Amino acid sequence: MRIDLMAGATLSAALPAQASEPVILVFDSGLGGLTVLEQVRRARPDAHYLYAADDAAFPYGRLSEPQLVARVIAVMERLLTRYAPDLVVIACNTASTVVLPALRQRFVTPFVGVVPPIKPAAALTRSRLVSLLATPGTVARAYTHDLVENFAADCAVTLVGSQNLARYAEAEMAGAPVADAAILAEIAPCFVTGADGRRTDVVCLSCTHYPLLLGRFERLAPWPVIWIDPAPAIARRVVQLLGAALAARPEPPAARAIFTGGGGLNPALGRSLERRGLTETVVEALPLAVS
Ligand code: DGL
Repeated sequence: MRIDLMAGATLSAALPAQASEPVILVFDSGLGGLTVLEQVRRARPDAHYLYAADDAAFPYGRLSEPQLVARVIAVMERLLTRYAPDLVVIACNTASTVVLPALRQRFVTPFVGVVPPIKPAAALTRSRLVSLLATPGTVARAYTHDLVENFAADCAVTLVGSQNLARYAEAEMAGAPVADAAILAEIAPCFVTGADGRRTDVVCLSCTHYPLLLGRFERLAPWPVIWIDPAPAIARRVVQLLGAALAARPEPPAARAIFTGGGGLNPALGRSLERRGLTETVVEALPLAVS
């Protein structure tokens, strides 16, 4: 892993000046968006990728809606000016469920968001008992409640706001294992049995961090369920907007990770990033101004 402390350089200098392949920026509060990056990269392996984690403000789940909108606009202002991507994926439910209208109003760059996969959940469930596992922020959003009302009105949807799972996923990526009991305590409320014996059979992974822990969820689940990760659908949306890959490359271009804080960077995290094709790490200091 190479770590650069950027003062004022621009990545565009490091990208081919006449690149015909698009530059795609994948953005999250932390490492969760890596699960989306992976799927988008698979769909457009020819593109140039930037991954930006607003770790200085992590977790977004604790910010009020006005704080979050102001923060994401400020960070995006900086990233768009510096890197001029062709498309941005807001790989964060907590942000997408509240900031997308403001982003689209402010910037001309196309944005693709990630929101809870309620519609596919309603199509897949047989028991009509669905759970939505998300941050407390996403669970509280009017946007989420509207999705449930519009697409799963005939299901009993249990909204589970997890205080800790995003943090646990970050810890695991940085080489600090989290105990099974701690993870089970967070997912247990998703497993509901009705008076008639019906049981939850679909759980929406409505925070992009959670697929990082999917293997653990499957192992610890009290009974098997379908876990829905919206990332493949996001990748399809990106292809719809940008078109299919131009040509197969012998080797995918190196991708760069940008952190607004960088406090959690360590060798274990560097290896996790490298395994995901992020070979360069840059810290663009952007301290959180809100209290
Ligand atoms: N990965 C983010 C999401 O999809 C949020 C984690 C957080 O910052 O609270 O909701």
